[in-house]
Amino acid sequence: MSSVTKSTLELAERYLMQTGRRLPVTFVRGRGCRVYDESGREYLDLVAGIAVNLLGHSHPEVVRAISEQAGALIHTSNLYFTQPQIDLAQRLVELSFPSRVFFCNSGAEANEAAIKIARKWGARQRDGAFEIIATAGSFHGRTLATVTAGGQQKYSDPFRPLPGGFVHVAYDDLDAIKAATTSKTVAVMLEPVMGEIGVVPPSPGYLRGVREWCDTQDVLLILDEVQTGLGRTGRWFAHQHHSITPDVMTLAKGLGGGVPIGACLANPRADVFEPGDHGSTFGGNPLACTAALAVLHVIERDGLVAHAAEMGELLQSSLADLGAKAVRGQGLMQAFEFAEPRAKAFQLSCLDAGLIVNAVDDHSVRLVPPLIITAEEIDNAHAVMQKVAG
Ligand SMILES: Cc1ncc(COP(=O)(O)O)c(C=O)c1O
Repeated sequence: MSSVTKSTLELAERYLMQTGRRLPVTFVRGRGCRVYDESGREYLDLVAGIAVNLLGHSHPEVVRAISEQAGALIHTSNLYFTQPQIDLAQRLVELSFPSRVFFCNSGAEANEAAIKIARKWGARQRDGAFEIIATAGSFHGRTLATVTAGGQQKYSDPFRPLPGGFVHVAYDDLDAIKAATTSKTVAVMLEPVMGEIGVVPPSPGYLRGVREWCDTQDVLLILDEVQTGLGRTGRWFAHQHHSITPDVMTLAKGLGGGVPIGACLANPRADVFEPGDHGSTFGGNPLACTAALAVLHVIERDGLVAHAAEMGELLQSSLADLGAKAVRGQGLMQAFEFAEPRAKAFQLSCLDAGLIVNAVDDHSVRLVPPLIITAEEIDNAHAVMQKVAG
């Protein structure tokens, strides 16, 4: 069943670059964990714009904040000060670790900033070291540098030659990082839980071990919390489960509640940018920062980080009877893997049944619902998935 009209399909094919395949539905509005298509049909959304809509769709407080800010000042550039940008930076630092913030518009840009910080830091502090150790299977964005940093060749191979200075080792393998570290190494760059490849948390002790290794080797630890950050895993930031802090952390996705914004935080050791080193026309504009301030305010006021931890456990246990060979995840970042290649058919059948899930490949289905999801909504989703799984 498709709710997409022939004209939408034709126009999209004629005017949009075909960079990805879309599911056969056109959404027109949303509220909470529900979205609605052109015919008014309701869907329960366990994907949330790929881990973006932390407060669900069109949360009234985000809508109000954006509307008021739009009426006052939308954009000025970073040639001038704006209060929401300073307030948001302060809030993020208070929630994470002593650092300063660079704002941009996406996860890829936040990671670009992190990579440039590492390069400059290496030039200054580590005798010109420039190489970043990243992990196979990771995902850091689609710019040339970030697609190279990400360890998935299917995304980078068509764009060779790729920028140099990245080496890849297996995820969750501290010894591999140790073996790859040389005098050229400037940083280790990791996702605290790999997201795009299908939600792969590391073993206990891995992140702490990497932190300790980076300290003994005097290299930076860059954590990409674009997907894991801001409550998704049941802590404000996933690294907090491991009682460590990175030198550099990147954020995006959920930060603006759907309004594009990214952020790169660097602790005093790594904070090497000077005027002229980096920039972004739109980065941290008042509209996006006001949206993000509203998102952080509601997460905190409504205790959504603890709620995500609780709902995450419920969601994970509800996935046990779907016939999957593996269920894995942390908080409201969960996935299950079928032995057979049936994830895409499962995703389509769920859509037909009014439930949005995300097949990351032929075998695995990812669930990254809004943090506001309720136990009842998880029950409803489970009932649909159980029926579809057969
Ligand atoms: C961990 C991680 N880093 C970076 C990115 C890239 O973010 P964006 O698509 O906003 O550039 C993603 C997107 O899926 C991601 O999951």
